[in-house]
Amino acid sequence: MKHFRMPAAAAVLLSATLLVTAAQPASAHEPPLRALADRADLRIGTAVDMTALADDTAYRRTTAREFSSLTAENVMKWESVEPQRGTYDWSKADELVRFARAHGQAVRGHTLLWHNQLPAWLTTGVADGSIDAAELRGILHRHITAEVGHFKGRIYQWDVVNEVFNDDGSLRDSLWLQKLGPSYIADAFRWAHAADPKAKLFLNDYNVEGVNAKSTAYYELAKKLRAEKVPVQGFGIQGHLGIQYGFPGDVSENLARFADLGMQTAFTEVDVRMILPADAEKLAKQATYFRGLLDACLGTRSCKSFTVWGFTDKYSWVPGVFTGQGAATPLDEAYAKKPAYTALAEALSEGR
Ligand code: G3I
Repeated sequence: MKHFRMPAAAAVLLSATLLVTAAQPASAHEPPLRALADRADLRIGTAVDMTALADDTAYRRTTAREFSSLTAENVMKWESVEPQRGTYDWSKADELVRFARAHGQAVRGHTLLWHNQLPAWLTTGVADGSIDAAELRGILHRHITAEVGHFKGRIYQWDVVNEVFNDDGSLRDSLWLQKLGPSYIADAFRWAHAADPKAKLFLNDYNVEGVNAKSTAYYELAKKLRAEKVPVQGFGIQGHLGIQYGFPGDVSENLARFADLGMQTAFTEVDVRMILPADAEKLAKQATYFRGLLDACLGTRSCKSFTVWGFTDKYSWVPGVFTGQGAATPLDEAYAKKPAYTALAEALSEGR
């Protein structure tokens, strides 16, 4: 048989073409984050904006493809589920749970008790004195029992109390503390446990990634509650970071001390904002922050889930709250992967 010799220049051109055409389908079929996370025995999650899920096909597809855990960004909060006193509206939250079930995803419950997004009937009633302390305690008991009971068996982790400490480690001066005193925290966990004994019950806050006054206040509280047999099983670290503030120190040490108490841990709301406009250097730095938190999570078996607070800059809460800041999520506004996405995929590929 005669050998055909290709001219060198043509060979280079052909192999370059092959490389390019070979790269395209390969990148289109890269394993999604959830497949990589499965191998690492971790749930990878996102907060879900229910309006975007209803209206935006690319958002819906990406939610289904990439994540194995979903958190309602807003629709499980008290103002959403009981807009009028005694009248529950589970419709949006049920929709999220149905979507998750259809796509083989777990659901994190967020959140039973917070100082924000409370129904107006409750805050007004407390402010004008028409709801006194005894009645407020009954209202809280009924709310937790109703909500946890409604979703019984369908939520694997509940954020029972959210953001109850100040950064200096003192208890937040919320209406809960003012009217009920500090025992409202133990009550909330006991009531949630009674309504769904299998769900893992979490404390959850921001600025608690590393060892500091606030995370230490949570550590001491968790230790005390567990000694008193209060069913507190998890510590949720939100993980709202900004590249202009530096990466928190001691993240692994912080996770380890909660694990030593026998608790689960989770990153529950991770995003990494920056001062706009974004550029290559800032995006590269952002990627190292995402990866730093995920590596800490992968470094301990106690860390069961890692959730981003939105996956596309198109719907992130950040620019609406921090003027001039944004680009905080792993995909840009057109759903293109940023270095942060690649960093998450690489960390998951390397496993525990
Ligand atoms: O529901 C109303 C809607 O009726 C109205 O038309 C619209 C007009 O702006 O506002 C809607 O409410 C907004 C709600 O999100 C639902 O979209 C509120 O204004 C807005 O303030 C609210 O923001 C949410 C914020 O919590 C409230 O504190 C963000 O989406 C949500 O990402 C954010 O999430 C919190 C976590 O729960 C706890 N940790 C911090 C995190 C970021 O702030």
